[in-house]
Amino acid sequence: MLIGVPAETDPAETRVAASPETVKKFIALGAEVAVEQGAGLKAGFVDADYQAAGARLVSAADALGADLVLKVRRPAAQELAHMKSGALVIATMDPYGHQDAIEAMARAGVSTFAMELMPRITRAQVMDVLSSQANLAGYRAVIDGAAEYGRAMPMMMTPAGTVPAARLFVMGVGVAGLQAIATGRRLGAIVTATDVRPATKEQVESLGAKFVAVEDDEFKQAETAGGYAKEMSDAYKAKQAALVASHIAKQDIVVTTALIPGRPAPKLISADMVKSMRAGSVIVDIAVERGGNCELARAGETVTTENGVKIVGYSSVTRLAATASSLYARNLYAFAETLIDKANKALAVNWDDELVKATCLTRGGAVVHPNFQPK
Ligand code: NAI
Repeated sequence: MLIGVPAETDPAETRVAASPETVKKFIALGAEVAVEQGAGLKAGFVDADYQAAGARLVSAADALGADLVLKVRRPAAQELAHMKSGALVIATMDPYGHQDAIEAMARAGVSTFAMELMPRITRAQVMDVLSSQANLAGYRAVIDGAAEYGRAMPMMMTPAGTVPAARLFVMGVGVAGLQAIATGRRLGAIVTATDVRPATKEQVESLGAKFVAVEDDEFKQAETAGGYAKEMSDAYKAKQAALVASHIAKQDIVVTTALIPGRPAPKLISADMVKSMRAGSVIVDIAVERGGNCELARAGETVTTENGVKIVGYSSVTRLAATASSLYARNLYAFAETLIDKANKALAVNWDDELVKATCLTRGGAVVHPNFQPK
């Protein structure tokens, strides 16, 4: 049983799918682990750390040629070319809207598992990559916002005068938004937050922030049975936009995290709203990889508008690569462990297990996940 840990090929990705800690645990289960040279460097793990944990250092091709390949992002075509037919691949596959890539993985004959499709049940909490990464992204978004903001966050009374506290507005109060609120409060900002799910009102208030939202009848039913947001009607969106427009003009830092599973991110901040903000204000859009909540956000860039508003579009979790990788690696280990027969020290997937069924995209040359059947 050979487990491979290749370096990520996307230049914007800084994380790695295994840490020296999880390598050690895999070896204790009887696996051999092959880590690509330099794979952990951007995440603060050097080759010697992996070697000390018992891994072999190998080429990219050798890491990709393992029986089980651990990745952060979906394997690209050039990576699939090195994979063995029948190998298992675990990663965040970003499957929605990428049907061609899923079919390419099927054609390569690999069995792929998308970590973001893991059911949010008690047994799988330790495998929840959406939570582990979103929590850090929410934290880092506020840190980035504070760093780009040319004023102080907390109120300060000094002999030279009083500095007012910054106003932070958090849009979308899932895992990332809650951590953004908590982080903003710790830094001394005056925090408000909005969401379309009614359950979030109490959560926002319990963190000492003020809840701002259009609380009409549609809002009262905006949560799906699974606990996620629904796409809202055009009428609701118009009311929400009017409320946001009047609120946002008075904000100093806005952190947006709003997402709807399987859909593009809802557009919540228009170019006109950005125009209404004062010079020096900052928007940090962490939904940017799913199209962005702010119309003017650009992935991987900080845009400064004509009226002096900075819009940060970095993938905030990649700016916290060491912590993000450590937690992600533990999420992956917890799932991969369930695919290993400990007595025989071999891979043994129970294809009927609910976690396997929920996450498995491709197997035996075909797309097997019901949500991604070829049309
Ligand atoms: P997410 O990343 O899918 O979305 C972020 C937030 O954006 C959500 O709160 C959503 O309601 C909000 N949003 C969507 N459209 C919006 C709009 N138009 N305007 C304003 N806000 C909008 O959310 P995440 O973090 O995955 O949380 C979703 C649910 O999953 C929550 O109910 C959360 O409590 C639950 N959850 C459950 C876990 C478990 O049971 N193990 C673990 C983590 C989260």
